[in-house]
Amino acid sequence: MTQPTPNFDGANRPKTLENYVGQRKLKSKLEVYISAARQRAQALDHTLLFGPPGLGKTTLAHIIANELGVGIKVTSGPAIEKPGDLAAILTNSLEEGDVLFIDEIHRLGRVAEEHLYPAMEDFKLDIVIGQGPAARSIQLPIPRFTLIGATTRPGLITTPMRSRFGIIEHLEFYSPEEIAMSLMREAVLIGIDINPDAALEIGARSRGTMRIAKNLLNRVRDYAQVAGETLISQARAQDALDKMGLDTSGLNERDLKMLDVMIAKFAGGPVGLDTLATAISEDSLTIEDVYEPYLIQLGFIKRTARGRMVTPLAYDHLGYALPQDILLD
Ligand code: ADE
Repeated sequence: MTQPTPNFDGANRPKTLENYVGQRKLKSKLEVYISAARQRAQALDHTLLFGPPGLGKTTLAHIIANELGVGIKVTSGPAIEKPGDLAAILTNSLEEGDVLFIDEIHRLGRVAEEHLYPAMEDFKLDIVIGQGPAARSIQLPIPRFTLIGATTRPGLITTPMRSRFGIIEHLEFYSPEEIAMSLMREAVLIGIDINPDAALEIGARSRGTMRIAKNLLNRVRDYAQVAGETLISQARAQDALDKMGLDTSGLNERDLKMLDVMIAKFAGGPVGLDTLATAISEDSLTIEDVYEPYLIQLGFIKRTARGRMVTPLAYDHLGYALPQDILLD
């Protein structure tokens, strides 16, 4: 096994903002907020990170804690079922200034969420002792902590919850060049020899998503290894990615099927999300969270009040002629 280096953790995730590729605007803001909190020796304001899956929200939360020089406790919305779960985390394991990272914070239950409000605002936890007529509520002080919430669904965060975050930031898709840069470094860390052109080829077909890129690097490496090659060339990367069913924009068979069905069965739309989900036997949440954001980013579909519509760019990408009514629009 390769050893972790000072700037990367055991899973080769960067530990510092400097080594976190891309997200330039977000990083420059965070640098200021983190330095200011450090100068004042205070906890950083509660921070909400949102964006499609696989862009590095969890990695960023660890980096923030590391840059603040504090500990981090990690949990997720669905893991906090009862108020007692939250109380256990907040009272037992957090120290002054620590980060509490709640992934998928939009899936936090309503009761737990309401218990979180006084914790976030006043660093107090309301707990009920006893039962029936003898029950009474007491307030327990808890350490001043920073809540970092991550979500793929900012629209599902309630207004009172959202208003308690002092920092609300969006993560963007990465450019092929940014992904290639990160892959070149990842390759060194895991001992793979890869040509920069090959890294760029993977970068271009990773849907702008770091997690996908790292997985594709490992799969392309499998193809190279089985072919008896020690250096991953651009031709090998291209061939492997083609064999995996990824087109030049990184779209897979499911994305292409969705676009195809929208054009062939629904005349390009508008088509409602649930209808579309049924037509391609897919879950509508997966369409919304996984397929759509990248297709919208590519400009292949758009959301309208009447449903999803395919754009002329998608007709072109799939090799369909544009229908007359779009041409006249
Ligand atoms: N892993 C996840 N996100 C990353 C990023 N932005 N840069 C480098 N490695 C990452």
